[in-house]
Order: sequence, then C-alpha cells, then structure tokens
Amino acid sequence: MSGNGHVIEPFNEKEYEILEEYRLTEFTKIVIARNLISGATKYFVLEEKLNRKERELIKEVMNRLRYLVIKSEDYDIEKLIKRELMKVCKDKKVRQKLFYYIRRDYLGYGPIHALILDPNLEDISCNGVGVPIYVWHRKYESIETNIVIKDLEYLKSYIRSLAAKCGKHISSAFPVLDATLPDTGYRLAATLEDISSRGPTFTIRKFRERPFTITELIADGVIDPLIAAFFWVMIENKRTFMIFGATGSGKTTLLNALLTFIHPSMKICTVEETREINIPSKNWVPFVTRETYAIGERVGEVSLYDLVKVTLRYRPDYIIVGEVRGEEAYVLFQAMQSGHGGISTIHAENLESMMNRLLNPPMNIPPQLIPTLNFALHISRVKISNRVARRVLSVWEIHSVDSFYKLAEWDPVNDTFIHYLNKSEVLERVAEQLGQSKEELWEEVERRAELLDYLARNKIVEYNEIVKWVYSYYRDPHATLRSIGVHIPKISVRALTELDKVIAVSQEEEELKGNMSEEERRALVSKVRREIARRLRVER
Ligand SMILES: Nc1ncnc2c1ncn2[C@@H]1O[C@H](COP(=O)(O)OP(=O)(O)OP(=O)(O)O)[C@@H](O)[C@H]1O
Ligand SMILES: [Mg+2]
Repeated sequence: MSGNGHVIEPFNEKEYEILEEYRLTEFTKIVIARNLISGATKYFVLEEKLNRKERELIKEVMNRLRYLVIKSEDYDIEKLIKRELMKVCKDKKVRQKLFYYIRRDYLGYGPIHALILDPNLEDISCNGVGVPIYVWHRKYESIETNIVIKDLEYLKSYIRSLAAKCGKHISSAFPVLDATLPDTGYRLAATLEDISSRGPTFTIRKFRERPFTITELIADGVIDPLIAAFFWVMIENKRTFMIFGATGSGKTTLLNALLTFIHPSMKICTVEETREINIPSKNWVPFVTRETYAIGERVGEVSLYDLVKVTLRYRPDYIIVGEVRGEEAYVLFQAMQSGHGGISTIHAENLESMMNRLLNPPMNIPPQLIPTLNFALHISRVKISNRVARRVLSVWEIHSVDSFYKLAEWDPVNDTFIHYLNKSEVLERVAEQLGQSKEELWEEVERRAELLDYLARNKIVEYNEIVKWVYSYYRDPHATLRSIGVHIPKISVRALTELDKVIAVSQEEEELKGNMSEEERRALVSKVRREIARRLRVER
C-alpha cells in the first residue's frame, strides 16, 4: 500500500492552539488542535519524515525482499525485513525508522496507518478524492484529519488493496463491499466509482479488542442493573427482543453484553454478515454470510435470508441475527412465532420507524406477527455535560402493531433510569409459566440486579469472570448471593403476610365449622408454609 497519492498537511503552530498531543509510536505523534480563526478542531498525524537517502534504502530493501519472499513463503516477514535492513544500514535508529515505514506501507495501512493504531478512534472515513479523511474520536467526536487522498487512481487501488487484505473483491461490476479486516477484526465498508458522487469511499469501524461487558455498561451508566437483570430473566425464559438505534449507537455492543446471560444449556444459532457476536456457550453454531462475484448469478452466495432459514433445522432455543435489514427479518419472525427465541438489532431512530421498517418492504412482517416480538430497547449516543456517552433511552414492551408500553426510560436531567418494569405483562406470563406469582418473579429480578450491581461496583468487568458469576448463579443462586453477602430470607415478609392471611381465612372457616383442634390447626399451618415455600422455591 505504498505510493504518494495522498498528502499529509503539516502542522502550523501559528494557526492552531494545541488541545492535546500523544505518541502512538516512536515515529508517530498525534496532535489535536483548534484553529485560531475558524475554531474547528483538527486531528494531525505527524510522522518523522524520510529523507531521500532513507527512501532509497527502503526501495533497496524492498527489491531484495521481493525475490526472497517468493522463495520462502513461511518465513516471518518482519524478521526478514529486519535482516535485510541490517545489511543495508548500520545506524540502529535509522533502521528502526525504516522498519516503521516499511511496515506502515507494505504490511500495514499506508496513509491511514496511524489512524488504525490510535485506540481513541472509533471510525475512520474517507468520503472521496480531495476531501480530508475524518475520524470519530472518543473525546472530540467527528473531526477532520490532516490526511487527504488526492489521486483518484490511487484511492481506487488503495480500496482494492483493502478488499484484498480481507480476502474479498471490489470492482466496477461489484462496487460495494462489506468486510472484516483480518488482523484487527475491524469492519470495512467501501464503494467504488459511480455509487458516490465524490468517487470511491471507505469507512473503517474500529472495535475495541475487548468488547464492553455488561458490568462495564452498568458502571458507565449505559444501562442499569435492574433493566439488565430484567433481560437476564427474559433471556433465560426465551423471550424475544430487538435493540434499535442509529448507526454506531452501540446496538451490537449492548447485544453482546446481554448475551452473557444465555443459559449454558441453551442451543444458539447466530447469523451475521461479519462476525461480531460472541456467546459464552459451547452449544453455539455461528453462521456468516458469503458473497459471490459471478455476474448476474447468485450461485454460491449465501445470504442472511438463506442462513436464518437454515438455522431452523438446528432447532435452536435462540436465533440471534446480528442486524436485520431485509427479508431475513420475516423468517426470524416466523421462527419466533413457532416458539424459538429471537434476538436482533435493527437500524431505526425511534420505535415508530422501527415498526415502519418491520412492516414495509423489504422486511414485510405481517402485522399479526408483530406481537411475537416481546421487547424493544432503544440505545443512543447522548451528550452528558459535554461528554459523549451511550444510554438505553427506553425499553418497550410490544403488544401489537399499535399498542406498546414503556417499561423504562432514561432521565436525562439526573442521568438515571425510571422503571415500570414490574408492570410488564410478559413478566406476568413468564411467572405463570414458572408457577410463580408476578411478585415472586420480580423479586428474582431484584436479586439478580443486586448481583450485577455488586459486580459493577467491585469492578468485575472481565468477560470470563462475569460468565463465571452468571453460571454460578444458574447453578446455585443462594450460594452465589450468600457469597456477596445477600441473604434470601427463608421466607419473605410478603410470603409471611400471605401466610397470615391464609391462616386467618382457614381459621375463620374452621371456627365457623367449630371443629378444628389445636393439632389440626398446626398441621394446617405447616402445610400452608410448605406450600408457600415451594412456590417461592426457597430453601427451608
Ligand atoms: N457504551 C459504549 N461506550 C463507549 N463506546 C461504545 C459503547 N458502545 C459502543 N461503543 C463503540 O461504538 C462503536 C459502535 O458500536 P456498535 O458496533 O455496538 O454500534 P452499532 O449500533 O451496532 O453500529 P452499526 O449501526 O454499525 O451496526 C464501537 O467502536 C464501539 O466500541
Ligand atoms: Mg451493529
């Protein structure tokens, strides 16, 4: 990925006020600065320049390597480069610099190499020829960089080489690409030529190497323990939901975090275009779509639609679709109708537009299937005192196309959540199914919330650690809660009140009959106690 079809604008101290600077490597510095006249913030990649001699040395090393690499494919390429560098350059510092540039241009990402390296960036977008590359910075949001690709042919060949890195293909016949970069797992979307008026474009969506876990989201205030615990109970009981929001709002991140609650015995099928979902369970079949490049043919192509249909044959407890966009949504709803659990994300700015997308082409969900979707969670980027954050804005329970209830919402003034979760009708149905009262199941939600709150407060954020706690809870909730100092009362206050009521009624009845001995009364009390304890599923 070498060449000079791009320009890197130098940093002019007189025009800018520096907001922040940091080093990515010994040879790469990032400066984020505000223009003194326009006030606009800009991201500068400043790399130590190569002189003519150094450029020639690189050419020489690359010429030597071309011959060598072909002959010995399984050599460590970086080692080979270093060895050849030793032969042409004695100065260690210069050698390191040359190595940086060779790695950048031949193994790395050339002009945007530094952007790939910077962990503060979430998105890298090139919107065409002659316009600066933009990045989404965690702290400064969308900002312009000092990198501009100025040559059309260069940009095209750069995009082709990115596609090749992913083992994919992009050409005038197939000008749109959605792929995963192999070394980082970052997502690449690209277009060639006519699709966009400014010419070819690409966007790289960077993922954290370690996705956010549920306790991190709780600690950050994205979701609160009670909503998370509510979905824990719902996931355990195979209920269905969708996460909706704008592009990059954190839908997939939230989905992944909630999937930690999947019961280890459940059979899961996931369907995605690019691999993003991760599930702790071993009983999991991940499907990924495959594209074809044959003109006018779909032979060999495997679409989301095909794959969701295939999953049905696996009889999974849950079908999880990374993101629904087209006709595969219909298959997912049919599967949910026939009793499978289903979870997905969908791009929509609000509940109404989510419904519209579901009901209209290409998804075409018949209105009578909408109630098979139990819940919808809205996630969004929000600003909290000048900081960008993500928040679950609302949680909805869906009853039909035109009847849905808010179960929780985010209060932007206090940055807290307001709940009506215990009003959920689905909760009541799940409780019925489990032979419990709604109140009892709600207490269960509260207990799980306590556990999640404990984990978040104690900074237990490692994925594997959380999975251990969740599994331990599934195995033995009492022991797990005891270990964090939460004791489930042998019999709850509510149960005791209920018990008193039952006894009072029975006594009244018996007194009316006037034939209940003290012994009979005690037997009755213990029978009622046993019954209540059974219903509460608590230890005696
Ligand atoms: N709670 C969070 N805090 C900070 N960064 C987050 C959070 N959630 C997600 N992100 C980051 O935001 C980016 C987008 O997240 P994610 O892929 O989950 O969004 P999405 O809504 O699924 O996007 P898309 O519309 O492209 O599918 C990622 O880089 C991710 O690491
Ligand atoms: Mg997503």
